[in-house]
Amino acid sequence: MSRIRPLKTSNDRIWIPEDYFARAEIGEIFPDADGRVIEFDMGCGDGGFLVQMAQHHPEHRFLGVERLLGRVRKVSRKLKAANAQNARLLRLESQYALDYLLPESSVDRMHFLFPDPWPKEKHARRRLFSEPFLMAIKRVLKPGGELLFKTDHDDYFELAQEVVKECGDKVGFERLEWPEDAFFYPITDFEQQWLDMGKTIDRMRLRFD
Ligand SMILES: C[S@@+](CC[C@H](N)C(=O)[O-])C[C@H]1O[C@@H](n2cnc3c(N)ncnc32)[C@H](O)[C@@H]1O
Repeated sequence: MSRIRPLKTSNDRIWIPEDYFARAEIGEIFPDADGRVIEFDMGCGDGGFLVQMAQHHPEHRFLGVERLLGRVRKVSRKLKAANAQNARLLRLESQYALDYLLPESSVDRMHFLFPDPWPKEKHARRRLFSEPFLMAIKRVLKPGGELLFKTDHDDYFELAQEVVKECGDKVGFERLEWPEDAFFYPITDFEQQWLDMGKTIDRMRLRFD
């Protein structure tokens, strides 16, 4: 069984919670968070999207969550190179962060971009987009907060549409239009790869009560 390796160096772009078993305060992550827009990028990958967003909105605060250590380190270097002071990285599993670590009503926008699609039928239940996932999102979002989801994977998008239809009223959210020019929204690293391959991208924007 593989062991999770500790981070070797302290790095001011990486947020290491003091206690992984207690809810954090948003001020622990961003000491100047008060009154600011807080955004959360789940599975930030190589960080192209996160870095561009952080540069475009220096007044916002961004937390990127990623489970692969190599990617966290890489994005940390990119943020430093871009001199982006307003983003932090957390090496953790997104659902755990949502369920146990992030405080209630603390985030304005959640980005869930090109999550692993788990294409094999026997692995499909590992897809994060589900009712418990949306319940967890609702707990962490501020009222009126949004979830932005994109995928290149048709089956995953179909599943997401079904989940949204089934539990929209129960969880408490509505689907909004999301035209291309609605707001600044950079293409992610994986998105560019899929676009280069001629794939179609589906997107969904949900606003929570
Ligand atoms: C297909 S990549 C997309 C990365 C980025 N969002 C983009 O669009 O370029 C999915 C990323 O999510 C990470 N990931 C997958 N499942 C995760 C989870 N449960 N928690 C945190 N990160 C996860 C993977 O390691 C990978 O970096």
